[in-house]
Amino acid sequence: MDYPIWDLVATVGGGVLVGVVSILHVVVSHFAIGGGLAIAVIETLSVRRGDAALRELAKRSSKILILVSTVFGAISGVGIWVTIGLVHPAATSALIHTFVWVWAIEWAFFLLEVVTALAYFATWDRVSKRTHLLLIWLYAFSAFMSLVVIQGILSFMLTPGRWLETRSATDAFFNPTWLPGLVYRTGICLLLAGAYLTFAALREKGPARDHMVRLLAGFEAGGALLAYGGYRWWEAALPEHVKSLFAGAKPLLATLHTTRSISLRALAFVLVVALVALLLPRIKSTAVAVVVLIAAFLSFGSAERLREGARKPFVIRDTMFSNGILVSELPSLNAAGILTKARWAAHDIGPFAESRGQAVYRAECAACHTQGGYQSIRKVTGSMNADRLRAFLDESKKDGDAWHAVLDHGAAPPKPRYPSSAPFVGTDAERDTLVTFLVSLQPATGAKESANAR
Ligand code: HEC
Repeated sequence: MDYPIWDLVATVGGGVLVGVVSILHVVVSHFAIGGGLAIAVIETLSVRRGDAALRELAKRSSKILILVSTVFGAISGVGIWVTIGLVHPAATSALIHTFVWVWAIEWAFFLLEVVTALAYFATWDRVSKRTHLLLIWLYAFSAFMSLVVIQGILSFMLTPGRWLETRSATDAFFNPTWLPGLVYRTGICLLLAGAYLTFAALREKGPARDHMVRLLAGFEAGGALLAYGGYRWWEAALPEHVKSLFAGAKPLLATLHTTRSISLRALAFVLVVALVALLLPRIKSTAVAVVVLIAAFLSFGSAERLREGARKPFVIRDTMFSNGILVSELPSLNAAGILTKARWAAHDIGPFAESRGQAVYRAECAACHTQGGYQSIRKVTGSMNADRLRAFLDESKKDGDAWHAVLDHGAAPPKPRYPSSAPFVGTDAERDTLVTFLVSLQPATGAKESANAR
């Protein structure tokens, strides 16, 4: 049994859709977590010191941060389930089955988070100070715990670790990058909260303003340091063959290497500004706050891109490729043919080689390539004639054999010739029909060559 892919729009693949929904959700949810912690601290300080201005800051920020982020976070979170379920049913199913109770725990915390957020928001000036503080700390706790839990699942996809041998849910959850990534994300949460709440603080005047800007710069600086430490630890915890994709002496994937420098530089910039603002809170103007917020997004977004990019061509590293094909089934599919698994792809086609080739393309390539838009297959194969394409697919098949050797008898992980592209899987006849199909996509010159090749 296999699941079909969802042919969304010719120009953007499903992966782009998942990316758009996830980016929105990830940014908002990190705000929700950091904001919860920051507001809890601010309100606690305001009660201890009897500081009305601080209390006002907590109250004003809670509207936007907690209400909007919880409501939007919930909607976009459901959006992720809908899109990944449609775009990648096989991976979604694998994650559900590996982490059954972890998901249940996640949703329990999430429920607590939403309930306490609404209760907190609705009870300003209506319950005792202690009760109100209890609500915000409960909110901060449950929001943070939902991060602790989801981080186990997210990091598993890049570093399944001992689970590869034991298949135990505990090993899957407590995988090598769970804790480093958690430290990193916690830092980002605090940093984003500080950067955002600064806008509310800037509306104050006089000493109250300086005092608040300093407090929030403390969040930013602490968050940036934590994020930096977490990032370095995360990198050190990666298996060598993953790390070498972007941090090796000779980076294989130049774009990922650049993404990494952007992320670290933007983080360093935020740290420097925050440290200066601790001493000289006056330098924080609205313009500076905007720049800091943008730099924080840039740093965080690049780190997320890096993590996702380092996972390619796998959806679960070393286990399942992005097209849903398992490393463990490569030999049997090479013998029997990919269309014995992806029956949906060959559904309703006639006995024509070109259509069969298209079926192979849909089963193996369309998860990442579109025909003419994002990661266009026409573009990446545009300069290859039939012979070159055949050679490419044979090489790429060898990458698959190498991955299988790792799983089968613990061979050293390969340096794949095509590190981002999934290996070709299937019989030689399927390879040839795929070549015919790919050549048919090319403009006139290609069509001539394909005629010669036939
Ligand atoms: C896991 C996602 C994924 C799958 C599945 C995938 N590719 Fe790719 N492929 C990529 C990425 C990413 C690149 C790099 C694109 C770039 O450098 O701009 C790429 C590059 C390529 C290239 C150019 C290689 C080079 O180095 O010149 C070819 C050719 C190609 N893919 C063909 C295929 C074919 C044919 C299939 C199906 C058998 C396939 N790909 C399946 C992601 C994928």
